[in-house]
Amino acid sequence: MSLNYIFRRRSIRKYTDESVSNKKIKSILEAAMAAPSAHNYKPWHFIVIKNRSKLDRIADIHPYGKMLYQAPLAIAVCGNKKISPDLWTQDCSAATENILLALPELGLGGVWLGCYLLNSRKNAAKELLSLPDEIKLLSIIAIGYPAEDKKSRTQFDEKCIHYEKW
Ligand SMILES: Cc1cc2nc3c(=O)[nH]c(=O)nc-3n(C[C@H](O)[C@H](O)[C@H](O)COP(=O)(O)O)c2cc1C
Repeated sequence: MSLNYIFRRRSIRKYTDESVSNKKIKSILEAAMAAPSAHNYKPWHFIVIKNRSKLDRIADIHPYGKMLYQAPLAIAVCGNKKISPDLWTQDCSAATENILLALPELGLGGVWLGCYLLNSRKNAAKELLSLPDEIKLLSIIAIGYPAEDKKSRTQFDEKCIHYEKW
């Protein structure tokens, strides 16, 4: 048994020029929607972004998303607050991680971009992605064929483990 598929997920921020096929995008989204979901409400929605000027626009306004100038693809993970008011962020986080774990299997790499600032900054996310009021943005994942190599690793740390109580 190997858990390397987990350990080899690393944040990849440099990409080649190659575009990602629709077949691979569908596989990525299948992985996303296989995530666990509270009450199985599945409040998630996914916005596939390939348009160069839209990717550049997100890179313009996301302070830590400058790799989007190079990425051929991004997927915005959104949640419907009306369907799952308390737990949509957790469901969308699980879907985001599933996407990240699927990418290396498809020969791709990517990085999770937190969107707290995009949500708070004069509703930039809502305008940028034409989101309805009940739909909130949890993450954007920049995706492409890797142009950097990162080592698998576990980050296992005994200090973070407690038994029975703190
Ligand atoms: C909630 C969240 C938000 C993140 N936001 C960003 C981001 O805005 N820009 C970025 O380059 N990386 C972002 N990352 C990636 C982390 O920087 C990365 O996971 C961390 O440095 C560990 O490296 P690794 O992913 O290669 O294991 C984010 C990760 C998480 C979980």
